[in-house]
This record gives sequence, C-alpha cells and structure tokens, in this order.
Amino acid sequence: MCGIVGVLGNHQAAPILVDALKRLEYRGYDSAGIATVNDGVLDRRRAVGKLVNLSDLLVHNPIAGTAGIGHTRWATHGQPNITNAHPHQAGRVAVVHNGIIENFKELRSELTDAGYGFDTDTDTETIVKLCQQFMDGGLSASEAAEKTIARLDGAYALCFLFQGEDDLMIAARKGSPLAIGHGDGEMFVGSDAIALAPMTNKVTYLEEGDWAVITRNSFEIRDANGALANRNMRELDMKSANADKGMHKHFMSKEIAEQPAVLGDAVKHYINTERNAVVLPDVDLDFSKISQITMVACGTAYLACNVAKYWFEQIAGIPVDLDVASEFRYREPPLRDNTLAVFVSQSGETADTLAALRYCNDNHAQTIGVVNVPESSIARESNASLQIHAGVEIGVASTKAFTCQLTVLMTMVIKAARQRGKLDADGEAALVSALLGLPSIINVALQAEHEIIDVANALSKFSDTLFLGRGALFPIALEGALKLKEISYIHAEGYASGELKHGPIALVDENMPIVVFAPKDALFDKTVSNMQEVMARRGKVILFTDDAGAQVASDGAWKVIKMPAVHAPLAPILYAIPAQLLAYHTAVAKGTDVDQPRNLAKSVTVE
Ligand code: F6R
Repeated sequence: MCGIVGVLGNHQAAPILVDALKRLEYRGYDSAGIATVNDGVLDRRRAVGKLVNLSDLLVHNPIAGTAGIGHTRWATHGQPNITNAHPHQAGRVAVVHNGIIENFKELRSELTDAGYGFDTDTDTETIVKLCQQFMDGGLSASEAAEKTIARLDGAYALCFLFQGEDDLMIAARKGSPLAIGHGDGEMFVGSDAIALAPMTNKVTYLEEGDWAVITRNSFEIRDANGALANRNMRELDMKSANADKGMHKHFMSKEIAEQPAVLGDAVKHYINTERNAVVLPDVDLDFSKISQITMVACGTAYLACNVAKYWFEQIAGIPVDLDVASEFRYREPPLRDNTLAVFVSQSGETADTLAALRYCNDNHAQTIGVVNVPESSIARESNASLQIHAGVEIGVASTKAFTCQLTVLMTMVIKAARQRGKLDADGEAALVSALLGLPSIINVALQAEHEIIDVANALSKFSDTLFLGRGALFPIALEGALKLKEISYIHAEGYASGELKHGPIALVDENMPIVVFAPKDALFDKTVSNMQEVMARRGKVILFTDDAGAQVASDGAWKVIKMPAVHAPLAPILYAIPAQLLAYHTAVAKGTDVDQPRNLAKSVTVE
C-alpha cells in the first residue's frame, strides 16, 4: 500500500530514489513521483501509472539534488491522476505518505477556514498544508513537522523534505512500517529494508508513534510522548533481498519455481533430522494446555489457516476458530481461557491482521505470528513468531509464501499432536519424513507445467469458472479461484464439492469449466460423484488428481492432469502448485500484467 523512500546522500538522488521505488513497486503502481532539494530549492517530478513512466519523464526532464524523497502509490483517496500523485508539496514542504489520515476532512476544513486552498482529492495534502501553516507561523521545519504529526489520526509512514534544508528529512511512523537506513555520511528512509538493500544493510526500524529528525550524519528518534527513544540498529542479511527475476519472465513464475528450494529450507529450520522430530525453537508453549486455537489472517494467508484448521483438528485434536482479520477485529469475540491465537501474514504488516493481533494481546491470549518478514510488526508484537523462510516475495499474487506458510503450520500441528498425545514418535517421524520429501515431489508436480499451459490456453477463452475440493483440498479450491481471478480477471468461485448442489450447480453448462482438486483419498469417491453431476450438465471438468485417481475418474472429464502421489495430509501443499501454474499461465495467455495486477498491491497496510 504505497511505498516511500528518502535519501540524504552524496550522489544525485533521482537514480537512487527510482531504483528504490522499483523495489517498492509491489506496494502500489497507480503513480510514482520524487522530490529533491537542490541548492535549497524544492522541485518534484510525478507520473501516472507504472514507475517506468516516471523514469521516462526523468530522461526528458531530469531533476538534480542529493536530498530527495520518492513514492509509489496505491490510490486510497482520489483517482490515480497526476494531481493526486505524491510527493505533495505546499510552500516549503514536500511529503510522501503511506497510509490513511482519518481526520483529514476536519483538518481540511480548518485549513480552508484559515485561507489555505486545496488542489487534490487526497488526505495527504492536509499534511503538507498543515505543516506549511505552522511554518508560516514562524516555526522551524522540524518544529512544524512535530506539530503536524501530533495532529494526525489514522495510519501513516511519512517522510518530509523542506525547501532551504539540504540536510534534513523528518520521518514518522504510526500503523505503517518505516525503516531508517545508515550509510557512510548518508542516511536513507524506506518502507522496508528491501528498498534500501543496494544502499545499506544497517537499518533501524521505527516503532509505533516514533518520529525522527535525520541529517546525513545524525538521527534522533522520539517516541509518541516526545521522549528521546533508543532504537536498535540491526545489520540485516541482505541475501534474501535479492529482487531479481533471473531467467523468468515474471516474478510469479520465478517464485512458483523456487518452491522446492524454499520449502526445503523452511522445513529444515523446524526439524531435527537426526531424530526426525519437530523443533520450534522460539515457541515456549505447551500445546496440551491449549483448549482452543483462533486463526486470523487475510486473503491467501487466511486460506492457509483454512487448511491448518483441518490439520489441527484432525491430527492434533484441537478445535480451531477461523476469521478473516477485517471481521475479527471489529467482531471482538470473547476469547476462552487457554486460547492460542495464530496470525499468518507474509508481509507481517497487514493492517487488519495486526489490529486483530493487538486485540488478542490486550485480551491475554497467547499469540504466535507466522510471517515471512522477521522484523515485521506482527513478528515483533506477537508473543512468539515463526518465520516461513520463503525469501522475498515480489509477485503481488502470493505463491511460495502460501506453501511455506502451510509447511510451517504443519510443523506446529505435529508439535501440538505430539504434546497432546495424539501422535506417537512413529507418527511424527512419518509426517516429518513426508515433509522432508516434499521438495522432490513438488519438483515432479512442476514438470506438469507444459500440460497445464495447454489447459490454461483453453481456460483463458472463458469468462467464469468454478473450483471444487473436499476436506483440506477445499481451501485449495478457494485459493485456486482467488489466484485465477486476481491475475487473469476471469471470474472464479471456489466451493466445497458437496456444496455444489445447494445452489452453484445452477450455473453449470457447457460454458463453465470446473477445476477439481481430488487426489485418490478417503473422500475421492464422493468428489467423483460431484464431478458426474457436473458432467451430466455439460460442465467441463478439469481434474487434478494422482495416478490412482486418473485411472478411475478420467472418463468424461474435459482435461485430466496427473500429480505425483503424496502422503495424504500434505496433499494441500502439493495441489497448490497446479493451482498457481493454472492461474499464472491463464493470465499469460490473456496478456494481463501478472506481477502487478490491476487495483491490487502486495502489502495491505490500510483497512
Ligand atoms: C493473494 C494475496 C493476498 C494476501 C493478503 C494477505 O494472492 O497475496 O490475498 O495473501 O493480502 O497478505 P499478508 O500475507 O501479507 O498478510
């Protein structure tokens, strides 16, 4: 949800800002812009659409200065046009903002009454106008910024730059992440460490309510009460910040292909291979004392929780409540004693999930964050966190993070089942060996890509699809439908196979492809009956199954694609692969923008 960057450097800022924005473009791509101070003069360039438009503009209309701020926008208030593009500027102040200022209407009317006019539809313009008003009243740049920040309600990561100040940036964070990067006589600000990776690996994360006065050789952080705050500087391992497509056409294709490697890495972090047993080093928790698990997340991460619900209940015998975070946070459910609340989030910054976590912390639940970004807010604010070790995920549609989330959740399930006496050492060893063998099975599944391309080419001609699955494959049907709609814009709905005849079957005719995920498991025959009902109504079944399933259920299906056999509980992880490939190649066939689908952004830091 918008990426912001700031530079107080010793080289021209524009190329550095554009490179950093490229690394942040996954957060939004409705418009992009930069502002610099050069010999004391504030100037800016902005362009609608992708960052490449800003780069083109800068070729024809360059901008000088070694101090600058930059922004890539995911529009919240106001259309994605040039007027609404950041940086916003008023008088001697320019600002980039990620978040939503909730009291902007009140501030705007106050400022209008005071004679300040507004040009844009954005909430952000109130920030620059307010700061301008304070400076017009005689305050210094940092005093004006401090007073401005104090008036803001809502969520923000901000970076201010000022006319006449070649060596000053003010950064502030509330609700949206922000990091300060330390160079040699240079300082940087970024929405995440990935943006700063080429410049520095020394990073200080601002905490909630912090604001910082930054010069090339110093920084001073104050907390929400105005007291000086001492925040640790960390040296990050930037290997994981490699945001390169390699030989692939899209990040999504690279990230799908990486799954055997990253999954193998994730497993190793949580398994003692000598004992074939699970170890959760940072989780000091006795699952035998847990009476209820509440799982909360959004989007694909929520669907990972859906799979884990089956596992926790069936393997570990723990009841699980599930919620999408945007509902949970306002539903404010009473929490039973001995509740474990689990928050799953790739970015670790999703606003609704974070708010749900805070609710559970306030209500004394034990909380665990399952995240891909170790320094993220959800990791830091949970009682314990488990990293999924997927490496940086750039494609807006989540792929490798989903399967790594599932893998890590399965290790939790095994641990819980052992501690609750639901699994003996042999049962644990069998599941652990199956997890260790998963990367090579996924490698085999990836080899079905060519067949999936043929199916995807055919699927791309349709405008609606249904996805079906049963048991723990039902969430994979939901995930397949979510992936397809978000990147190919084909309307797709996921259903539990048994639910079809309770309504959705009315949609079925020869124009309705129905994607079915059904390994030959205990529920297979029931799913085959549902397929028969579909085919009797001329629906076009695309069946993903294993060899045993294909032998008995291929007749009448439009397309059948075989997956390798897998230890039954792990089937959801395996069948996520063809779901991702199908969505990816359908989108490629339709020529949509796979990595940056319309209207979406990766890190959803606003409600
Ligand atoms: C879909 C997708 C989103 C995210 C959701 C949660 O492909 O990526 O649905 O899963 O926005 O994001 P995180 O996991 O960062 O909390």
